[in-house]
Parts: sequence; structure tokens; C-alpha cells
Amino acid sequence: MKKFYSDRLWQHVLGVATTAEFLAERNGVARKKARLAALFHDMAKEREPGEIIRLAEAFGWEVTPEERENPTLLHGPAAVTLLREEFGIWDEEISQAVAYHTLGRPGMTTLEKIIYLADMIEPGRNYPGVEELRQLAAKDLDLALLRGFARTIEYVLARDLYLHPFTVTARNALLDEIRKKD
Ligand SMILES: [Fe+2]
Ligand SMILES: [Fe+2]
Repeated sequence: MKKFYSDRLWQHVLGVATTAEFLAERNGVARKKARLAALFHDMAKEREPGEIIRLAEAFGWEVTPEERENPTLLHGPAAVTLLREEFGIWDEEISQAVAYHTLGRPGMTTLEKIIYLADMIEPGRNYPGVEELRQLAAKDLDLALLRGFARTIEYVLARDLYLHPFTVTARNALLDEIRKKD
């Protein structure tokens, strides 16, 4: 897998794998699946924008005009095509976790939540609040993910970037899930 990544991104991916295994252990998810999904998750990130669109379409993604303007947003679904074409991996759980690691979606599986969050808190990440998020993730995956979505949305708004609707619906669905648990 290493050849799909620059050295810098490979270091990030290894960090995500370690964190994902840690979270998998605590949340009853197979560690090996979490590790594989983590190692694959950014495989399409360094591809050309046009290539990312092509790979995402091959996965079955219906690309919107806004996504076409922001192809990087689709490096998750694009990576699933590489996973299938280059590694022959069709595992549904791994594919979904890779596909939705950037945008999220309503009704995320535990593995999807783990990859989304591990991506944000792996040891190489360094931003205000990351330590608190790490501690929360070790205790409560859903609450940490809710914080994670808030951070993503705040980040996007602060920079006047395009806010993807999946992230909004994912966040609201998770909030609903948490309230129903209480
Ligand atoms: Fe990513
Ligand atoms: Fe990542």
C-alpha cells in the first residue's frame, strides 16, 4: 500500500491505523478491519482532481456540480475504486468506512465512525482541542464524533469553504442517535 502514498501521507495513514485499532478494541469492532480501512482511506488523496472524479464515478457516486468544483471532497469514494481495482477488496464495511471518512453520512456504522474520528485524532494531528478530543474518543465514540463534526463544520465555515450536505445530515442524525440513547 505504501507506494500509493507520499512519505508524509503514509505517516498520517499509519497514525490513523494505530488509532483506529485502539478505538476498534474499545467498541467491539474487528481490529484487522479497522486497520485495513485506515490504511486504505487516503489512497486517492494525492491523485489529480479529474482522476478523483473519475474514480468516484466508477464507485457509483453521482457527482454534483458542487463536488465537481471541490474534487478533493470525493477522495473517499475514489479510494474505494482503487481498493477494488488494485487490491480486489470488495468488503462492504471497509468500503463504506473508506468512502465516507471525509463527509460522513447519516446512520454511520461503528467502523465508519472509528475511521472518521481516527483521521482527526491520530498522533500526528496537532490543533487546539485535539487532546481533549482524544480523551473523549477513548471514553465515548459518539460524543467524540459529535465534537468532531462540530470541528469540521466550524473549520469549513471559518474559511468560507463549501459545506457538504452529508456532513450536516450526518451530524444531525448522530445527535438524534445520542439523544435516543439517553
Ligand atoms: Fe482523507
Ligand atoms: Fe486522512
